[in-house]
Amino acid sequence: MMTATRLSSPVSVAGLTLPNRFVMAPMTRFRSPGGVPTPEVADYYRRRAENGVGLIVTEGVLVGHPSASHETTVPRMTAGSAEAGWRRVTGEVHAAGGKIAAQLWHLGSEREAADGYPAWTPSTMSTGDIDVIIDSYARAARVAVRAGFDAVEIHAAHGYLLDEFLWAETNRRTDRFGGSPAARAAFPAEVVGAVRAELPGQIPLIVRVSQFKERDYDARIAATPAELAEILTVLAAAGADVLHASQRRFWEPAFDGSPLNLAGWAKKITGLPTITVGSVGLSRSSWLSRLDLLERGLTDEYDLVALGRILLGNPSFVRLLEEDRLGELRDYRKADEDIYF
Ligand SMILES: Cc1cc2nc3c(=O)[nH]c(=O)nc-3n(C[C@H](O)[C@H](O)[C@H](O)COP(=O)(O)O)c2cc1C
Repeated sequence: MMTATRLSSPVSVAGLTLPNRFVMAPMTRFRSPGGVPTPEVADYYRRRAENGVGLIVTEGVLVGHPSASHETTVPRMTAGSAEAGWRRVTGEVHAAGGKIAAQLWHLGSEREAADGYPAWTPSTMSTGDIDVIIDSYARAARVAVRAGFDAVEIHAAHGYLLDEFLWAETNRRTDRFGGSPAARAAFPAEVVGAVRAELPGQIPLIVRVSQFKERDYDARIAATPAELAEILTVLAAAGADVLHASQRRFWEPAFDGSPLNLAGWAKKITGLPTITVGSVGLSRSSWLSRLDLLERGLTDEYDLVALGRILLGNPSFVRLLEEDRLGELRDYRKADEDIYF
């Protein structure tokens, strides 16, 4: 049986000391009525921490502006009962020996209408709107620090608000927030700067980016490495400590002419530590067939490897690997997203 020795060794990334290279990817679960994470949510994260996941990134957590989403069961990062719920989550994860980052989320024009709210029509944000939203991220970061999180991740991927600025298809602005790739990164960078300013030095800020959108897998924020460099240089200068490069399949090159994946390019461009993700270990056979490739990317292309769907039906995936018990792995199936919590 092949063991994942390099993935299973301790590492320090952006000041976080971790027992291995595995990260739980952020996954929306719709289990927080009224935006408040329940004790079951704390159990859900604790089960992954106590089974060896080094760093957990929470599901997307809404910043405290009403435009962030109309979803009522997506958790929020706001003072009061939501903050208390998160304090329980971080306490349980820490007691299990884990570390946890809060992913801050605003859905932008992906937000849908809901009972009691008017239908949502995307419109151009005024500079006043922009300032208010930046402030809502800063306030959410403050709550995350009080609630005991070890890191914060800004969701700037997959077609939501910040990514809508990064992508030329949705960013048609003619002011300083639109135009060149660097200009399209200006608003996300101001959010990064405002959040970084709220975090004590030892709390790293992770920024998650992607080429693809939830609605368009072929979409790209950068057509070339040079365009990607413009964007990521601006985000890094604003205070990103780690880049989380989201792809659907980690083994796919980001651009023609080089085998580097998106995390590899992000690391090459910025020199920052990176996290790769995308269909890692969805079944025993896919894990075994790509283990060599996955380990080969460490640490030139990426420092950490995020696992999403496989951790739904297998909270103990990392332990199974480390104890050479891969025979017990339950292969991922789409229904797992509803069945397992
Ligand atoms: C049910 C589900 C919910 C997700 N929710 C989020 C989210 O809230 N924020 C985010 O950045 N990505 C989200 N993702 C994407 C995952 O973080 C991850 O990038 C993706 O599942 C690919 O990794 P995997 O192949 O290991 O599952 C979600 C994915 C799934 C399956």
